[in-house]
Amino acid sequence: MENIDWGNLGFGYQDADYNVRCYFRNGKWGELETSSSNTINIHIAATALHYGQEAFEGLKAFKGRDGKIRVFRMDENAKRLQNSAEGILMEKFPVDKFQEAVRLAIKMNERFVPPYDSGAALYIRPLLIGTGPQIGVHPANEYLFTVFVMPVGPYFPEGFKPTDLVIMRQFDRAAPQGTGKYKVGGNYAASMYEGKKAKEGGFSAVLYLDSKEKKYIDECGPANFFGIKNNTYITPESDSILPSITNKSLLVLAKEMGLNVERRKVPYEELASFDEVGACGTAAVISPIKGVYDADNDRWFKYGSKPGKWSTKLYNKLRAIQYGDEPDTHGWIEIIE
Ligand code: PLP
Ligand code: COI
Repeated sequence: MENIDWGNLGFGYQDADYNVRCYFRNGKWGELETSSSNTINIHIAATALHYGQEAFEGLKAFKGRDGKIRVFRMDENAKRLQNSAEGILMEKFPVDKFQEAVRLAIKMNERFVPPYDSGAALYIRPLLIGTGPQIGVHPANEYLFTVFVMPVGPYFPEGFKPTDLVIMRQFDRAAPQGTGKYKVGGNYAASMYEGKKAKEGGFSAVLYLDSKEKKYIDECGPANFFGIKNNTYITPESDSILPSITNKSLLVLAKEMGLNVERRKVPYEELASFDEVGACGTAAVISPIKGVYDADNDRWFKYGSKPGKWSTKLYNKLRAIQYGDEPDTHGWIEIIE
């Protein structure tokens, strides 16, 4: 702990002091519990292990210049976890209990919240898994909700330096009417193979097209997609992408900055017309994109090797709100007392 290099953190797992747990048994959720163990004891036939009955969340807490810890839009993460739970027939975890668990996890691990100057943050990972045994494909009757935390730097090691994405049409992360809109583990398992291929090729992530027609842009493996042109912030509308809380926030900020905003189908060909392109998410924040390579057609779309004007403005604005440098006029921040 004493030797955490706050300024050079990547996005990696690290133990903190405590995690929070809550069990669903006999038809109801129990009390929040805290644990200093980083392992869980799980039934050999738990549905999470066999049939992927699991969903997770990702949110961040930030230490301000004033020393206060701020958490960003956690009610949205709580609601999205409920939505994911509904999507794969898991027991929903109550929103207020989710918030209580996150507050507790932050407070008990306060010494892991990176200092203001480092630009790093505390990453909070809530997880909901089916723990009850089933061998037929049925939902479990027991669940575990847990929250653990760790200090992190940017998801893409380049941080706010632009990187490249790659399109490879032979891979889909989610089916057209499938689970892409839920934050469930299966989507991430489904993206690992091509994600590794992309990294090996020097790309930071795969940019997926819609799985049905391969005509429209969906999202990246771990983040949403946006493009900017003609004073307009444009982001895909799709049933198979995760509704990103960062993206939802950027739509608001972009509008306030005087940009037009559009959430609609974004045809592949439109890649040729954007002035700026980015990936956005809690872990990725805003990751500017300097190029998209269409591997199937050996075609490059280029956006310049420096972050664009609007991407930079949006990045600075979002970070300023999150770290408390600018007032929170939207009610997105909770100060953890
Ligand atoms: N899309 C995917 C597939 C993700 O895993 C994430 C990360 O949570 C996002 C988008 C961004 O969502 P958010 O901004 O809520 O973190
Ligand atoms: C996040 O941005 O919180 C994510 O969950 C993305 C990635 C770590 C899977």
